[in-house]
Amino acid sequence: MIRPRKAVERLQKYRPPLEGRAGKLRLDFNENTVGCAPGVVRALRRALNPDWLSRYPEYEEGRAALAEYFGVSKDEMLISNGVDDAIKLICDTFVDPARWVALANPNNPTGTMIPKGDLRAILEAAPRTLVLVDEAYFDFSGSTVLSWINKFPNLAVSRTFSKAFGLAGLRIGFLFANRELLGLLRRAHAVFAVNSLAVACALEAIQHEDYVRRYAKMVQTNRALLCRRLDRIGVTYAPSAANFVFIRVGSKAPEIARRLREQDILVRDWSYDPHLKGYLRITIGTGAQTRRLTEEFERTQHLIERRDGARAWRDLMTYSPTGYFA
Ligand SMILES: Cc1ncc(COP(=O)(O)O)c(C=O)c1O
Repeated sequence: MIRPRKAVERLQKYRPPLEGRAGKLRLDFNENTVGCAPGVVRALRRALNPDWLSRYPEYEEGRAALAEYFGVSKDEMLISNGVDDAIKLICDTFVDPARWVALANPNNPTGTMIPKGDLRAILEAAPRTLVLVDEAYFDFSGSTVLSWINKFPNLAVSRTFSKAFGLAGLRIGFLFANRELLGLLRRAHAVFAVNSLAVACALEAIQHEDYVRRYAKMVQTNRALLCRRLDRIGVTYAPSAANFVFIRVGSKAPEIARRLREQDILVRDWSYDPHLKGYLRITIGTGAQTRRLTEEFERTQHLIERRDGARAWRDLMTYSPTGYFA
């Protein structure tokens, strides 16, 4: 057999998302639960024509508009095929064993924030290591270090339109860094990594910022609603700045997730991870979706193990995530 690189041999197999999620209340992968702005779908229909489809994608104009939206210069941003692609690109460009730091902020699966002082300390302590701050959930947290890319030559920041913007299926993300770093990354990037329909939709999506802001605000309100319900029934959860809440239900987590699934509600059970046995992650959606979730969740109350909050919280804080995807 042809042997892959050692790093690939050592990789754990990723457990892919379950298939067959259509038509269910999908609170398992932190997607937008109502869909993108209708204008984006109209833009997609306009782009679906033989002329557009027969041509290779063109990026320059779109990159200028998108960079302006993010408040950076064109040379400080590249469009990627989702953050996944941006991460692979960083690895291709810079990474030998132990040569980079990746921090999701807000973190997944906890939803917690790394304080800016700590981020600064990490960037200063590792000046020769590329540090990625992945801001996939920025639209919900409102906290960013994007403006630091010109202060720290080792900083890269990523964003995605898979979450608040509701475009996970299209695969569109962004990587930011100072122009020297970005120039090196661009050299290693596949020339046509992002398809032209995704670019057309991204350009339309930024015209509907209000839609995204309203969605994010609604999520914040419903996140507070869910947390109040969790407080009432004594379930421990991590304070989240993202569109999900990470909760501890104990050893019956798989059973609780299964019962919810029987009601067509999908939540993410982390029990396959030895560090996170007993935890569920629940995506926040509309008020009606959150009420439906809580009603069904409360029916499983007899299965929930309540623990001293401080102890459960310590467990969470000592867990250091090694992978965060979906
Ligand atoms: C922190 C974080 N970054 C990136 C991603 C994936 O982003 P994309 O869909 O742009 O690849 C996820 C998906 O869940 C995530 O949680």
